[in-house]
Amino acid sequence: MQKIFAAITGVEAFTPPDILTNADLEKMVDTSDEWIVTRTGIKERHIQKGLGLGISDMAVPAVKKLLEKTGTRPEDVDMVICSTVTPDMIFPATANIVSDKVGIKNAFSFDMNAACCGFLYMLTVASQFIETGKVKKVLCIGADKMSTITDYTDRNTCPLFGDAAGVVLLEPNAEFGIQDSILRTDGSGRKHLYMKAGGSCKPASHETVDAKEHYIYQDGQTVFKMAVSKMADISVEIMEKHNLPADKLWLVPHQANLRIIEAVGRRMGLDKSRVMVNIQKYGNTTTATIPLVMSEYEHLLKKGDPLVLTAFGGGFTWGALYLKWAYDPA
Ligand code: UT7
Repeated sequence: MQKIFAAITGVEAFTPPDILTNADLEKMVDTSDEWIVTRTGIKERHIQKGLGLGISDMAVPAVKKLLEKTGTRPEDVDMVICSTVTPDMIFPATANIVSDKVGIKNAFSFDMNAACCGFLYMLTVASQFIETGKVKKVLCIGADKMSTITDYTDRNTCPLFGDAAGVVLLEPNAEFGIQDSILRTDGSGRKHLYMKAGGSCKPASHETVDAKEHYIYQDGQTVFKMAVSKMADISVEIMEKHNLPADKLWLVPHQANLRIIEAVGRRMGLDKSRVMVNIQKYGNTTTATIPLVMSEYEHLLKKGDPLVLTAFGGGFTWGALYLKWAYDPA
């Protein structure tokens, strides 16, 4: 029987219009543009403002644009997954809310959470359904409103994060698409990057709010070291396994820190021009970084181009995914 691959047949993203610059942050905490740029590569990030807005309000315009661009009718979508750490609400799933808002009526939809590695986990899960022939059109949405869990009095974390949504359409293809992925988890790393309260262990209370336990806690240096070594090791592993040529390969790294991205690119022997980077404009938008950067490089990608996607995040979770791009620029 002929193998079926799950191919990305379109990518779109949405970032909210409000921008928080390093100069703005200089007025909020004891920091400087120079520190933020040299330590992270970030110059500004987009923030979703407005009462009552959640990640579905960023995902919906991205999904609508993607459906239009790919000529896909909402009723033909079979499955919707949303990867996020900041859902609209604990339940129901944001994927259900997005489906309702764009008129997707014949799909099953659910959320998943693998923190910053969510996009790779989600593509891997979705591809299994396509490869077995069970479904034909899947939307994979990565969306996060990190501004809702960022403490803007904590200079260690507030320069890092931003808000965005990105989405890809996956469809069956005889040749192009997702070829392989290697995913890993180490739950013992959970204490280095997490949100202390708001879950079943420690529900929200006056005390948890007063103690600022609904914000991101990160031990930056530990996460930095792990991110560099794990992302580089696993990307080299998938590159060697498939004999991927450094001069033809595109690296699509999670955008958490420019120094991490550059270190991974160097370990893989890639020229900087083969590494997708847009962290300077958006910061770390968690599960949205990969579709967001891919949407900005889409016009450079040609059918058959090899791409390695890689990420590291809370959990710890990390991975690398190898795919063959399925279409030429429009
Ligand atoms: O997406 C999920 C995965 N997340 C990541 O991959 C993030 C990984 N971590 C990082 O990107 C980096 O560790 C950070 C950007 C968070 C921090 O950079 P660093 O080079 O590891 O700095 P550091 O935490 O070691 O801090 C160095 C110094 C400290 O001062 P002292 O103790 O040396 O006097 C900090 O207090 O920089 C200070 N510092 C700041 N100074 C100005 C920390 N934040 C700031 C700031 N502005 N915003």
